[in-house]
Amino acid sequence: MDETERDTRGLSLDRRAFLRTGAAVGALAAGAGAARAESTPDPLITEVQPWAKGWGDGVDATPYGLPIEFEGDVIRRNVPWLTADVISSINFTPIHALEGTITPAGCAFERHHSGAIELKKEDYRLMINGLVDQPLVFTYEDLERFPRVTRTYFLECAANSGMEWAGAQLNGVQFTQGMIHNMQYTGVPLRALLEEAGVKPEGKWIYVEGADASSNGRSIPLEKAMDDCLVAFKANGEALRKEHGYPVRLCVPGWEGNMWVKWLRRIEVTDQAVESREETSKYTDTLADGTSRKWTWVMDAKSVVTSPSPQMPIKHGPGPLVITGLAWSGRGAITRVDVSIDGGKTWAEARLAEPGEKMALTRFYFDLDWQGQEMFVQSRAHDDTGYVQPTKTQLRAVRGENSVYHNNAIQTWWVKPNGEAENVEVS
Ligand code: MTE
Ligand code: CO
Repeated sequence: MDETERDTRGLSLDRRAFLRTGAAVGALAAGAGAARAESTPDPLITEVQPWAKGWGDGVDATPYGLPIEFEGDVIRRNVPWLTADVISSINFTPIHALEGTITPAGCAFERHHSGAIELKKEDYRLMINGLVDQPLVFTYEDLERFPRVTRTYFLECAANSGMEWAGAQLNGVQFTQGMIHNMQYTGVPLRALLEEAGVKPEGKWIYVEGADASSNGRSIPLEKAMDDCLVAFKANGEALRKEHGYPVRLCVPGWEGNMWVKWLRRIEVTDQAVESREETSKYTDTLADGTSRKWTWVMDAKSVVTSPSPQMPIKHGPGPLVITGLAWSGRGAITRVDVSIDGGKTWAEARLAEPGEKMALTRFYFDLDWQGQEMFVQSRAHDDTGYVQPTKTQLRAVRGENSVYHNNAIQTWWVKPNGEAENVEVS
């Protein structure tokens, strides 16, 4: 094998030799001894299997497909003790088991304050009123006639990692960092609709409401509304799912999830922020001195290793190990991710699967020849503003420990020699 072949195959000779040995060792462990392991034929190779002896399903078996049953544990999960009921509640994206960056809608986390409602396109109306030249009402079909755009963005709930402020608590990245999803949205720039209504010079804010009982009313500065907000009616190429705001939701790129109003029904242009009960009591961070950090809408850069992690133990022995995870920043694009296996004492640069996109998830890989030792695995994100993700100690020094929201600290997984991983903190 010459150099070219090496390069195109992406594996060096040593590594390929190792993988062969690894397979032999695997067979040995499964069989009774080395000689037998090597001489016993593997029926999966030598025998015609049942699935090759008959017909598979016809094309009409599943008009809209679900994942195969063997992947049945890759699902959203909730933490029953977190909320009093499942109506005003949260579940979590199984980010430990996903790859790439796009979150399939069927397992993308949901957060509702009064449940997911059913609203038909025909019954859909969007009103723009307040400080505008011409109050307007749009139907779904009206929205479809505006020039539209397609953009990929992450949505992170401000409460993501909130349970981890005081110490390592939940044993799974799905629960510690899984209040996030990343979809490719199609919709109309909010700017186009506001311009259609004509914003009066006194208009400085918009107050946005959903059609559900909670309405989830939020104030957003006009500057952001005119910049990159989207009135979205598709996600990942298909209609929004009921739980994500069908038929229309607002996207507020890079900003905390609670502003992404679902089942969008009304936008009022105002001269100041409307103080809803939510804004005064929620999503503010109480600092150590008792003062509040308010209106912190942009989600700071964050990253996490998704595998290995408590739900993704290493199942093979020492040798080649793929460490992977996700990074994102509400302020821009991820430019670099570092990985540490010694709890942050030393760092090495990870490989980005694709160049970071603004306000969207970025996948990273770190290929390691693991010696089977215990590791304290961490990742650290850098964004294009120069911001570097803080450690828990650094974040607590600034914010204290009374906060619930906006925890973007570095996560540590203690990976043991047997491959199991645990959520821990290192000082
Ligand atoms: N919009 C409405 N109308 N009602 C809601 O309860 N919850 C908000 C936001 N928009 C909410 C809403 C919160 S707190 C979050 S984090 C996101 O929606 C969650 O979006 P998702 O369900 O698509 O994950
Ligand atoms: Co939220």
